[in-house]
Amino acid sequence: MKIIIHRSAAILAALCIATFFISTIFVELVGSNESIAIVKRLILMPGLFILIPCIAIAGGIGFSLSKGKNGVLITNKKKRMPFIAANGIIVLIPSAIFLNHAAATADFNTIFYIVQSIELCAGAINLFLIGLNMRDGFRMSGKIHSC
Ligand code: HEM
Repeated sequence: MKIIIHRSAAILAALCIATFFISTIFVELVGSNESIAIVKRLILMPGLFILIPCIAIAGGIGFSLSKGKNGVLITNKKKRMPFIAANGIIVLIPSAIFLNHAAATADFNTIFYIVQSIELCAGAINLFLIGLNMRDGFRMSGKIHSC
């Protein structure tokens, strides 16, 4: 049961970040100011309210699943977890709040685009780290094999 929740939270977290990333770029390229504001609002709510618990659940259950186990894959997953959490708390949440507020007031100035670039970089880094944790998780459970 724990492994199903861990896996589901992990996959949902990855899907959330990928969706935020793709929708941000897509709406920036082809959307109006109103549609940019809608995407920013949806990323904040319900987006982050789904993503943050998923990361916390995946991490929390991951540590509990790893009790009594060790090895390089577990060690690497544990090392990545603080970066994933810090990236979310220090960069993704404040950026999403700022961008939502700026877009709602049609304040598309240089700072908006600087913060948006930082948010996209942080999102890409988290997607990469979560992807590595998924790969190592599937390796540990024997669903994929190391080359
Ligand atoms: C957001 C971070 C994480 C993601 C995306 C993630 C992802 C995954 C995935 C996809 C699986 C495979 C599930 C399956 O076989 O159905 C897995 C298994 C596992 N993960 Fe994680 N995980 C994360 C964090 C952690 C952490 C921090 C730990 C603790 C060290 C951990 C420990 C484990 C363990 C012990 C397994 C089970 C391996 C087995 O079947 O024996 N995970 N993880």
